[in-house]
Amino acid sequence: MPSTSRSPARAADPVSLPVKRRLEAPVRGLLRLVLLLAGLSLLVRPGAARQAAIASAHPLATAAGFETLAAGGNLFDAAVTVSAVLAVVQPESSGLGGGGFWLLRRADGRVSMIDGRERAPLAASADMYLDAAGRPIPRRSLDGPLAAGIPGEPAALALIARRYGRLPLARSLAPAIRLARDGFVVDEAYRRYAGFRRRAIAASPGAAAQFLDHGEVPAAGWRLRQPDLARTLERLAAEGRDGFYAGKTARLLVAGVRAAGGIWTGRDLAEYRAVERAPIRVDYAGLRVFSAAPPSSGGVALAEMLHMLDRFDLDALTAVQRKHLLIEVMRRAYRDRARFLGDPDQVAIPLKRLLDPAYANSLIRDLSFGAAGRSRPLPPDPSGKGLDTTHFSMADSEGNAVAATLSINYGFGSGFVPPGTGVLLNDEMDDFSMRPGVPNVYGLVGGRANAIAPGRRMLSSMSPTLVETPKGLGVLGTPGGSRIITMVLLGILDIAAGEGPDHWVRRRRFHHQYLPDEVQYEPGAFSAQELRGLRLLGHRLRPLDDTYGDMQAVWRAKGGHLEAASDPRGSGAAQVKTIRVSTSPSDGP
Ligand code: DON
Repeated sequence: MPSTSRSPARAADPVSLPVKRRLEAPVRGLLRLVLLLAGLSLLVRPGAARQAAIASAHPLATAAGFETLAAGGNLFDAAVTVSAVLAVVQPESSGLGGGGFWLLRRADGRVSMIDGRERAPLAASADMYLDAAGRPIPRRSLDGPLAAGIPGEPAALALIARRYGRLPLARSLAPAIRLARDGFVVDEAYRRYAGFRRRAIAASPGAAAQFLDHGEVPAAGWRLRQPDLARTLERLAAEGRDGFYAGKTARLLVAGVRAAGGIWTGRDLAEYRAVERAPIRVDYAGLRVFSAAPPSSGGVALAEMLHMLDRFDLDALTAVQRKHLLIEVMRRAYRDRARFLGDPDQVAIPLKRLLDPAYANSLIRDLSFGAAGRSRPLPPDPSGKGLDTTHFSMADSEGNAVAATLSINYGFGSGFVPPGTGVLLNDEMDDFSMRPGVPNVYGLVGGRANAIAPGRRMLSSMSPTLVETPKGLGVLGTPGGSRIITMVLLGILDIAAGEGPDHWVRRRRFHHQYLPDEVQYEPGAFSAQELRGLRLLGHRLRPLDDTYGDMQAVWRAKGGHLEAASDPRGSGAAQVKTIRVSTSPSDGP
């Protein structure tokens, strides 16, 4: 497995060696001086000219990432910090009770994916959200402990720290622990989602005590303190993954879930593993794109769409034809998403075929520039607004980069906190297809490949993405449920057109996901002429009242110059900074 350079402080330590005992005192003094100077230069050198860019959905997370870099951490340590701080300061979006995908790129160009996706409890069954007549029971896969998959984020953070980091996990988690313990002032997004999910939160005494103010949505200026979460983070910091999946935390989680009607067992937690996987790689128009592999559908769908687009000369098309083509490739990729994709460890995915550029020919065989296609019901299977969920992008001048999308699914997840843990559980079970043809909360349908099964990871749309071009490296991603993949596609096309990150995050967006058969679009996404043209072709156009997405993006030009941009639809923070190492990495939290 990959390893990174060790911390300067740790590199210097082993020299306090057996040899020392045999040396004369003056020589020893000289040696100490030399070692001290060497150690100091090692400490200072990495920070001297290094720059980093971080774009995250919360200013406190971006600031904490830089804090870890200044403490001597590498970009992957900073990714652990940003993830953990987002878990504390954006509880409506992600957390220790949820999961995510981290795409890690090392300066030498190697890219890997850490899969910290939740999985179904071992006692889960295909029809657990259906009534006796086979109808979905409203809200069962969304609210309360029965909606929660086994969390993956704590295991992923421990794995990233161990395999890729330079600092001890405890050091990288220190800012999150501090913010959970001392608190921070909640923002408008928190208050909005707390209002939206108040009923589910109020039903859980643990969640209500933590996130509401005497049962009500807190007023502006309210400080959220999460002492139980701070202690859970401390156990993770001290013991690594066992600090969460075994011992006291595991006992509290299982007891809390079961007392409230959930089905978790200690074995669910003990057996959970974050998995390192190869990302999906696709070449398009001189770009090399890396994105999330199954159990995310993002990379495969992006690959299919880019391969289809590659069959056309986009510059030769009119504006209407171009939008029409994009809608039609979206339609086709989401059909395959629904039919073929699921947990790669449990279902057979015809990955080789789907990723073959030649496969795109068969997908576009019926694509006409004279009329919109039709989304028919899927063959019988024999077998919101979008600021919840979160993404961050980072890169340094040396060429390391991280794109990570993290989620507890719906705003404030399941709304359930097992007492004593401070851990808000996800409702990611809703991402399974609970019955062929029955849409989930994002309107997505699926079949057997994404049916509920014990220990299975539910299919995701989260698509952290890296784009290498002859001019540099783009890092991007966003929340937004089913619309994530099409947002990233539009961003990739902007990169191909030579646009910078500010453009990717600001651009107006549109989306088609096969079913429902409609084009959803933000105000301003189409000109009046495009709307007329698309309507004439037979597209059903559904204007959205509001914008969607919260993209966080970074660009690293070939020479090392960095830019960062945060979606104006959210309240994130994007910054480029020169890193000056101020603290020894061995300093504890
Ligand atoms: O994994 C997925 O695809 C979803 N659970 C992501 C949810 C999401 O992006 C919510 N944001 N609007």
